[in-house]
Amino acid sequence: MRTDTGRIVHLADYRPTDFVLERVDLTFELDPTDTKVEARLIFHRREGVDASAPLVLDGDDLTMTSLLFDQIELDPARYTATPESLTIRDLPESVPFEITVVTMINPEANTQLMGLYRTNGIYATQCEAEGFRRITYFPDRPDVLAVYTINIIADKAANPLLLSNGNFLGGAGFGPDKHFAAWFDPHPKPSYLFALVAGDLGIVADTFTTMSGREVALKIYVEHGKEPRAAYAMDALKRSMKWDEEVFGREYDLDIFMIVAVSDFNMGAMENKGLNIFNDKYVLADPETATDQDYANIEAIIAHEYFHNWTGNRITCRDWFQLCLKEGLTVYRDHEFSADMRSRSVKRIAEVRHLRSEQFPEDAGPLAHPVRPTKYREINNFYTTTVYEKGSEVTRMIATILGRDGFKKGMDLYFERHDGEAATVEDFVKCFEDANGRDLTQFALWYHQAGTPQITVSSTYDSSAKTLTLSLEQMIPATPGHSAKEPMHIPLRFALISENGAEAVASAISGGEVSGDVVHLTQRAQAFTFAGIGSRPVVSLNRGFSAPVSLHFAQGSEDLAHIARHDSDLFARWEAITDLALPVLTGAAKTAREGGAVETSRAFIDVLLAVAADETLEPAFRAQALSLPSEADIARELGGNNDPDAIHAGRQAVLSGIATAGAGVFGKLHAIHSASGPFTPDAAGAGKRALKNIALSFLTIAENSPALAAAAFASADNMTDLSQALTILAHRFPEAVETKNALAAFETRFASNALVLDKWFSIQATIPGAASLDRVKVLMQSPHFAPTNPNRVRSLVGTFAFGNATGFNRADGAAYHFFAEQILAIDPRNPQLAARLLTALRSWRLLEPGRADKARAALATIEASPSLSTDVRDIVDRVLK
Ligand code: PHE
Ligand code: ZN
Repeated sequence: MRTDTGRIVHLADYRPTDFVLERVDLTFELDPTDTKVEARLIFHRREGVDASAPLVLDGDDLTMTSLLFDQIELDPARYTATPESLTIRDLPESVPFEITVVTMINPEANTQLMGLYRTNGIYATQCEAEGFRRITYFPDRPDVLAVYTINIIADKAANPLLLSNGNFLGGAGFGPDKHFAAWFDPHPKPSYLFALVAGDLGIVADTFTTMSGREVALKIYVEHGKEPRAAYAMDALKRSMKWDEEVFGREYDLDIFMIVAVSDFNMGAMENKGLNIFNDKYVLADPETATDQDYANIEAIIAHEYFHNWTGNRITCRDWFQLCLKEGLTVYRDHEFSADMRSRSVKRIAEVRHLRSEQFPEDAGPLAHPVRPTKYREINNFYTTTVYEKGSEVTRMIATILGRDGFKKGMDLYFERHDGEAATVEDFVKCFEDANGRDLTQFALWYHQAGTPQITVSSTYDSSAKTLTLSLEQMIPATPGHSAKEPMHIPLRFALISENGAEAVASAISGGEVSGDVVHLTQRAQAFTFAGIGSRPVVSLNRGFSAPVSLHFAQGSEDLAHIARHDSDLFARWEAITDLALPVLTGAAKTAREGGAVETSRAFIDVLLAVAADETLEPAFRAQALSLPSEADIARELGGNNDPDAIHAGRQAVLSGIATAGAGVFGKLHAIHSASGPFTPDAAGAGKRALKNIALSFLTIAENSPALAAAAFASADNMTDLSQALTILAHRFPEAVETKNALAAFETRFASNALVLDKWFSIQATIPGAASLDRVKVLMQSPHFAPTNPNRVRSLVGTFAFGNATGFNRADGAAYHFFAEQILAIDPRNPQLAARLLTALRSWRLLEPGRADKARAALATIEASPSLSTDVRDIVDRVLK
């Protein structure tokens, strides 16, 4: 484990390497505990670099056993090797030279899952961001691009498969029990995209013919016996390849594309060139074991990693500050792909829900940072929802501002200009400027200013002048290290909806730029006046969530109801329902806290039930409308001094009010949508199941009996229905026999499927109430739990901390204490996992003082530990500051 050195890396300090890496040859002699890595690296001194400058290579926990310089053993006086670096002095001024380094590494002991490690008897690597330096000494930074040749030697029986990046060169036997394989990747790449996999796996094979007619072999490797569960991933891969050709004009560039599913992985998946490595959770699916959400995630992540081949691999990042250059852009691409594969509006609603529940709290708390940060202490901690999801939103805004064609022109120029390079955010933005002749200087502030812009809106209609004036004011909140902010360029899609539901896109006569249906807010305060408006319209603003901002628009509830009923933009309709729901829910939380009886406004219930019952609307949309803002959404809206128990109680009371008033509607919905045909994992089928299951949860509330859910559990023929029924039982009636029986039946049935048991852990970890802590502790003793497996830990401890507000924040602080112990236990094994879990405490300052004190005390225990990893030290320091 790398313990903290306190070193901060600054963007301003960037400079190119002194030496240029020409080529890389690696030979691995694989052994579970003693793997030998021989690296032959050819360098030359960069022009203009001082002749005395030494070559300094990165390492992390390395042991070197031999070092040759141009094939001859190097005089120890000319180098210094430590576990963290190798420095070589007295190097030639202008001619290339070759370094041959041998390091010995222990994959079995690698519990961090960075570098070369073992998972379920397989060798796998993870090199992003700085894992390659745990394999060999190397200029381990993304702007060092080279061509790699890889030789792998391993025991043949245990490792029939020997895989690496690029194209397969050949292989043969090697001594009595071993064999070797050679791979060559012709595309220069940075070390973080290196991958190696060896072991015994099952194969699913297919082919794809590219737009220029080349045939690409497609292989997905999974554990033996799980091949049928990779069919959906393969299908998603082929659709991704086709989509990238059709929409972005991007063709695949090797003879083979491989995906390997592994069971121990810190993140979702990794885009290594030609050899993506996936958390098996995002590959394996069949109706019996995967939910609709699992299918949607697999489709999105397969696409995401595939799309990285162009946005990330062919064009990579100059340095890690530019992470959003590949991640924000690639998330945008996978969002667009899913929108094209599914329902665009429903997809957008899900994206915005996710952004609000994950990114907005990050942007409003102690971990807030710009999409393009300027300093970091541990880069692993910057794989954040801000870089990914807000980064995607920033890309989406460029498309909104420039329009479809303008965006396409900019992207085409980007691919043309920077292919094969390590680029920056500035390079990216410049392509859109140059291709469109538009100055995006102000827009680029989105990359540099953290914090969710707060937009205050008011509108006034002048019936005699027939004008509408829309007054907008923007405020960017202060964030750590940055208090004074400049006004940003905020593109807001809008429509003016008349009384009869007709929509107009008007152009402004004064106030600023309005292009098509987009109002461009560029000043701190701006008033746009629209003329020729016959009667007072309802303003639908930020349609499609064109800008990732918070709107404060004192719109009357009649206006919101009008939008909820008539807007042609489904996203805007959902948003209006949310805007109607939030005051109801915050009001209920306040009432519950004061011990009063919550009453739910009839007007709100009527709007909601009208939408629910409207069979012209797609089921998935109605299910979204019925999934009220979460407890976390309500907490954010309340803004501080929060009592999670009151928020929960208030929300439950509102749900009861809706359930009672809507029992008839829900009964019908449940009946209509239960009678669906055979299972198909597509969006339409998923939508029906979502609506049916939310109807079931309201019916269960109305009846206050586990009977319906128990029946649904018994008759379910797919994992979505089964896990939903189990969730309703466990969360509503944790002590009922029906629940105990269902939990036991589920455990027995899926005892050999760890990914399914993760759902069993998560469902139980999120049972509301103080008793959940003891449940989590008991579950940690379950034979199905494995403290070293990230998926298990996230399903149980992670879901408890992130997804169980009443349990995690129980008033006595016991769960915080437990959590701190867990963090300290996980950190020495897997710092990345520990640090990511710890972000669950990032919003502790929004709690009421009693809980906040206890959360702070738990954080202080962590901070007081003398031997934290850099990862955890960085998070705990920032969260406490
Ligand atoms: N680059 C990966 C992705 O977003 C994420 C990742 C980062 C995976 C770091 C592993 C380690 O596609
Ligand atoms: Zn990515």
